[in-house]
Amino acid sequence: MDGYAGRKCVIVGGTHGMGLAVARRLVDGGAEVIVTGRNPENVAKAAQTLGRRAHAVAADITRMADIEALAEAVNKTFGAADFVFANAGIGIFELFEAVNEATYDRYFATNAKGIFFAAQRLAPLVRNGGSFVFTTVTPGNASPGLAVYAGTKAAVKAFARTMAVELLPRDIRVNMVAPGFIDTPTLGIADATPEERAEIHAIGDAATPMKRHGTPDEVASAVLFLAFDATFTTGVELPVDGGISQMDAPMGTEA
Ligand SMILES: NC(=O)c1ccc[n+]([C@@H]2O[C@H](COP(=O)([O-])OP(=O)(O)OC[C@H]3O[C@@H](n4cnc5c(N)ncnc54)[C@H](OP(=O)(O)O)[C@@H]3O)[C@@H](O)[C@H]2O)c1
Repeated sequence: MDGYAGRKCVIVGGTHGMGLAVARRLVDGGAEVIVTGRNPENVAKAAQTLGRRAHAVAADITRMADIEALAEAVNKTFGAADFVFANAGIGIFELFEAVNEATYDRYFATNAKGIFFAAQRLAPLVRNGGSFVFTTVTPGNASPGLAVYAGTKAAVKAFARTMAVELLPRDIRVNMVAPGFIDTPTLGIADATPEERAEIHAIGDAATPMKRHGTPDEVASAVLFLAFDATFTTGVELPVDGGISQMDAPMGTEA
C-alpha cells in the first residue's frame, strides 16, 4: 500500500498513542514523517520503530525556542510539508475547586499555547493545498474534573476554526479530530497511576454507547481521512467517540 508515497508529514506529539498510530499508517503508506515529542528518548524510540522514512525531533512545545528549532528542522528536512498533525496534549482530572495556578498554567502551556505556536510556526512550511488536523476532545456533556482540560481543548477548537478561515487563500484545510475514550498507553492522562488508569478505563467503557474504548488506529483512520481525502471539508470537528457525543449509553448494559 503506497497511498501516501511522496507525502511529507509532521506529527507533533507522535511518540506513542494516536500520534504514533497516524505516523505508522503514513510510513506504511510510503510517506516520510517527522515525529516529535517532549521526551528525547521516546522520540528516538518512535523514529527507530517507524523505520527509515521517519525522522525524530525532540521539541517541548512549552518552549518557544524548541518550536523555532522544530520549524527549522522541518524546513531543512522537508522544505515543504503536506500535512501537520497537531496532536500533543496532556490531560488531568482535577475538580474545579482543587485547581491551582501551577496546574492551570501547565495544561494551558502545552495544550493551548504550545499547540498554537507550533501551528503558527509550521504553517508557512505547509505547501499550498496541504492540511492540518488538530486533536480536541469529544464534544460530549461536561464531566467533573475536566474544567481545565476542556478549557484547553475549547481554545484549540477556536484556534483551528480561525486558522481554517485565515488559510483559505492558500487552499490549506484545517480540521479537528475529537476522540472519546481511546485505548492509548496513557489514556490521555500522563500522570495517572495504573489503578487510576484501570478506573478511567472502566468508566469509559460504561459511558460509551458502543461499550468499549476506541483504538489509536480508529482515530488514525479519521485523521488521515481529514488530512487527505476530505478535500471539500474545512473547519470541522469529527468525533471518534463510540457515539458518546450523539446519544446516551444504553441502560442496563454496563461494561
Ligand atoms: N487517549 C484518550 O482517551 C484521549 C481522549 C481525548 C483526547 N485525547 C487527546 O489526544 C491527544 C493524544 O492523546 P494520547 O492518549 O494519544 O496521548 P499520549 O499517548 O500521552 O501522547 C501524547 C503525545 O504528546 C507528546 N507531548 C506531551 N507533552 C508535550 C510537550 N510539552 N511537547 C511536545 N510533545 C508533547 C507526548 O510526547 P512525550 O511522550 O515525549 O511526552 C506524546 O507524543 C492529546 O491531545 C489528548 O489530549 C486523548
